[in-house]
Amino acid sequence: MLAYFLLVPLLLAPPRPISAGPPESGQKLFSIYCARCHGKDGRLGLNGAHDLTKSNLNVIGRTYLVTNGMGKMPAFKSELTPAEVQRVVEYSLTLK
Ligand code: HEC
Repeated sequence: MLAYFLLVPLLLAPPRPISAGPPESGQKLFSIYCARCHGKDGRLGLNGAHDLTKSNLNVIGRTYLVTNGMGKMPAFKSELTPAEVQRVVEYSLTLK
């Protein structure tokens, strides 16, 4: 019975966020980490970056590329969490 009373509040307690504040949106992450080469609209093409509005890479290819880098495209695995990579990749797919 005692265990029951101790357990219920634990189960009902909302999960505590790891960091304060809402997570950065894909758009925000893109403007921080990607826009310096790709531009806010994905078309800038600085430092040999490819025009993202013309890219045929799907979500799997982009996730791999952003995580591990390729050529002059830097790897972001030490800067972004997998969840952040996912959000920024999803945002990049909206650039048309
Ligand atoms: C230092 C400049 C630089 C930054 C910063 C950068 N990129 Fe790139 N990106 C490149 C270059 C250069 C290429 C071409 C790589 C190659 O094929 O050799 C590229 C290619 C890509 C491609 C593949 C396009 C295609 O179909 O060929 C995607 C997708 C991409 N970048 C997404 C991103 C995202 C998302 C970010 C931010 C997390 C980012 N990039 C940050 C330089 C950059």
